[in-house]
Amino acid sequence: MTGKLNRRQAIKTLGIASAALALPAVSYSRVLGANDRLRVASVGTGGKGWSDLVGVAASPAVEVTALCNIDSSKNHLGRAAERYAAAKTYSDWRKLLDNSDGVDGVIVSTPDFMHAPVSLAAMQLGKHVFCQKPLTHTVFESRQMKEAAQRNKVVTQMGNQIQSHAAYRTAVALVHAGKIGKVKEVHSWQAGTPSWPRNIDRPTGEDPIPKTVAWDLWQGVAPRRPYKTGLYHPFNWRGWQDYGTGQLGDFGCHILDPVFKSLELTAPLQLTAEAPPLNPETWTESATVRYVFPGTKHTSGDTINVTWYDAAGVRPPAEVTAYLPKSYSLPNAGSVLIGEKGTLVIPHVAMPKLFLTGADAEATIEEVPSVDHYVQWADAARGEAETTSTFDYSGPLTETVLLGTVGIRFPGQMLKWNAEEMKIPNFTEAEPWLTKSYAKGWEPAWV
Ligand SMILES: NC(=O)c1ccc[n+]([C@@H]2O[C@H](COP(=O)([O-])OP(=O)(O)OC[C@H]3O[C@@H](n4cnc5c(N)ncnc54)[C@H](O)[C@@H]3O)[C@@H](O)[C@H]2O)c1
Repeated sequence: MTGKLNRRQAIKTLGIASAALALPAVSYSRVLGANDRLRVASVGTGGKGWSDLVGVAASPAVEVTALCNIDSSKNHLGRAAERYAAAKTYSDWRKLLDNSDGVDGVIVSTPDFMHAPVSLAAMQLGKHVFCQKPLTHTVFESRQMKEAAQRNKVVTQMGNQIQSHAAYRTAVALVHAGKIGKVKEVHSWQAGTPSWPRNIDRPTGEDPIPKTVAWDLWQGVAPRRPYKTGLYHPFNWRGWQDYGTGQLGDFGCHILDPVFKSLELTAPLQLTAEAPPLNPETWTESATVRYVFPGTKHTSGDTINVTWYDAAGVRPPAEVTAYLPKSYSLPNAGSVLIGEKGTLVIPHVAMPKLFLTGADAEATIEEVPSVDHYVQWADAARGEAETTSTFDYSGPLTETVLLGTVGIRFPGQMLKWNAEEMKIPNFTEAEPWLTKSYAKGWEPAWV
């Protein structure tokens, strides 16, 4: 990420979080009852935002009142405005929030680097927030999201919708039922090859900005750079450090989610990454991150190792597959939990496979049905349900994932993590990467 803070500035910024803890909540949301409709705004109505919006609006108790997109073309603002014709439309989310009396909840489906600025501003106005994964672009922002949600007493949900799918819900239930006994170690991986740019330099030159695109608004809090066709907006921003979080950030909040949920993990004690040298602009083509967490009631030791691998075709090593029948092939992405009584494979995304120690065949499992991740948020905002990926939960999950992206900057260097103080006491050189600088005039209002 260009324009990073120097260490002194970073620590000063991080200090704001704890100093501000004493401040009162700034706003309260309208109290809704069973007969009230939830008035929803969507920021980022194209790409994943389209299915987020349609998913939430599937609830008969939801009314879509505002839509925002920096791109007015058919696939971005166009089709949403057509489908929800009564909604007010905006290109600038700040204007939407300035006129948000008729909005109770905001769906934030922008690229990663804009999640926290939009969500924090919405929560500070007392709006309930559904925000895509990873919750934020930096570790510091994740902590802010959790604190802002608590302070403003709003209903939150991160968009890691697979958490609500039968596949992940069944996996969590199997671990909680003790089917594999206490868990000894975990290996999680993503072997796919992304289509978005990795390990490349910033291109030179500039392309004409399409008439439908407000490029300055797209860049938002990020440092300014010229528009290039097809390299950033839409979708390909993922590979660029200024905007995205690479393969770990893109998939970690999905694949590590049932690991976090089932083992009730919180913050890691330390992590060590292995990765090729990082280009200053883009994320690496592969990474391994070895996390050590404090043990929980679901783990066998005082600590538990959770290892993440991403690389084309990668799988956990032979020591891990030795726990599985020879006839079984691991899926392209997922997790293996090795327990005292058996091994659980959680494919991304399919029903888990349970292998009890000493048995050749897969054990039968009882499926836990899916619930609707999107409608659950709308129902919870109306006091009718509870969300499961609240920012209390998804903040620490995202902090862990993004700590891995900090580790990728310092391959081979073990980083100790003091979660409470947000410090890396054994290697303070890494601390500036817990946060970043913001474009002038776009600085978020921190909690
Ligand atoms: N949960 C999932 O399975 C899943 C799947 C895909 C993407 N995602 C997440 O969804 C988010 C969006 O990803 P995507 O692939 O749809 O990206 P995208 O670039 O394809 O779409 C983003 C949309 O937001 C709009 N937008 C961008 N900046 C905006 C701003 N400042 N204000 C208003 N609108 C803005 C764009 O025009 C576009 O319509 C990311 O955080 C991504 O990680 C989640």
